[in-house]
Amino acid sequence: MRTFGCQMNEHDSERISGLLETDGLRRAESDDDADVVVLNTCCIRENADNKLYGTLGHLKTWKDAKEGRRIVVGGCLSQKDKDVVQSRAPWVDVVMGTHNVHRTTELLHQAIEHGPITEILEEAVIDDHALFPSALPARRETSYNAWVTIQIGCDNTCAYCIVPAVRGKEISRPFADIVNEVRHLASQGVTEVTLLGQNVNSYGRDLSLAARRDGADVSAGPQFAQLLRDVGSVDGIRRVRYTSPHPKDMRMDVLQAMAETPSVCEHLHYPLQSGSNRVLSLMHRGYTGERYLERLAEARRLMPDLAVTTDIIVGFPGETEDDFVRTLEVAAEADFDSTFTFIFSPREGTEAATMHDHFIDPAVVAERFERLRAVVERSAWLKHQAREGRIEEIIVEGPSRRNPGVTTGRTRQNKLVHFTAPHPLRPGTYATAEITRGAPHFLEGKFVEVLSEPTHKIRIPVATVNV
Ligand code: 5AD
Ligand code: SF4
Repeated sequence: MRTFGCQMNEHDSERISGLLETDGLRRAESDDDADVVVLNTCCIRENADNKLYGTLGHLKTWKDAKEGRRIVVGGCLSQKDKDVVQSRAPWVDVVMGTHNVHRTTELLHQAIEHGPITEILEEAVIDDHALFPSALPARRETSYNAWVTIQIGCDNTCAYCIVPAVRGKEISRPFADIVNEVRHLASQGVTEVTLLGQNVNSYGRDLSLAARRDGADVSAGPQFAQLLRDVGSVDGIRRVRYTSPHPKDMRMDVLQAMAETPSVCEHLHYPLQSGSNRVLSLMHRGYTGERYLERLAEARRLMPDLAVTTDIIVGFPGETEDDFVRTLEVAAEADFDSTFTFIFSPREGTEAATMHDHFIDPAVVAERFERLRAVVERSAWLKHQAREGRIEEIIVEGPSRRNPGVTTGRTRQNKLVHFTAPHPLRPGTYATAEITRGAPHFLEGKFVEVLSEPTHKIRIPVATVNV
């Protein structure tokens, strides 16, 4: 199972693995041992296509080397490319999309019996219980934290973004199903959940409207604040995170719910994209740099220890030097803990891809990218240094990949901490450490004490959640 792209895709991969395991397959340690390779693809930025077809070239050799080997390609890029995958790589057995994850095993069986198959659904099948991938069996990667889908699709029209085209329209998952899934996860020893959606602030707007149409006396509008409160008060849940909100829809009630629910972590991923009002308007983002900063100030007033991370795109068509300088200014003022910077990439089918006449010279973009990096790295490093000497609560992820003698974990602010523990700590342990050094992208610390041991007894191999 190889996954590209965002957490949404990683979560889909857990479902695909869960389905295949329910069907009798087991995870292979290497390609050599594998009978089936699944690629779960992403198409948000350039090069994904070239990389996919490159990988499929290698996989042809892998497939030819042994009778009975199969290749499955799913995810956003196949949703976008449809028949193209099979025509460019006819040795692929199954091509599926984002709306039929639940059909993985049937499709694989069909391909084994009848030959290669491409099945891409245009949209989600609404009355299907499998609509929300969380309702499928999962092969969760870790047993102490879990992703929970609260919404699929996206109704926004950001000019650069391919997501609405590949993930469909926005549909919220019923409130009680989400809370029940979180209760079930907590009963299995999960202590940290991350709520997933493309635009979580609007969660429940469609549910409220539908309920009112059916005559229920409920207030119209999103229900995300209440969801945070309810999920956050599930027994056993110590940390709640979510991604991603949209600044245009960020409301005070959500910030208040974050501040007033102790388990909701002090971390906000708050995608800025650009600081220039002119560019924000071309992007159809629905807010200004000033409004973004005002809301951020409110968030920090309510949660003084809030860590803020963001996404910024450099070189959107028509971005002038003045526009870019405004992005630098807003980024400096926002004082982010961490920033994901992206170079604009035209995605066929999006509005921005048609703005050829205004594409920015790559050399100019590269230079701007570096200038932005200097600004955001400086603020990240200062933020991290400011944590030196503090005692932080850490959830243990396991031994550091580089140095097995070092333990790695995350603070409530979602910062990576490397620290040395006197004895091995199991993943999922809560411990405290004193921060001894803040580096640009991580913290170092000294172990203080164990707060609690993990309660899950085993990895959750296949959790069938019928909620
Ligand atoms: N080009 C560059 N970056 C993009 N993103 C989304 N679409 C594009 C694109 N066409 C970035 C946005 C988004 C993040 C997940 O990816 O910043 O928030
Ligand atoms: Fe995630 Fe978007 Fe990539 Fe799909 S295209 S995997 S939704 S980032």
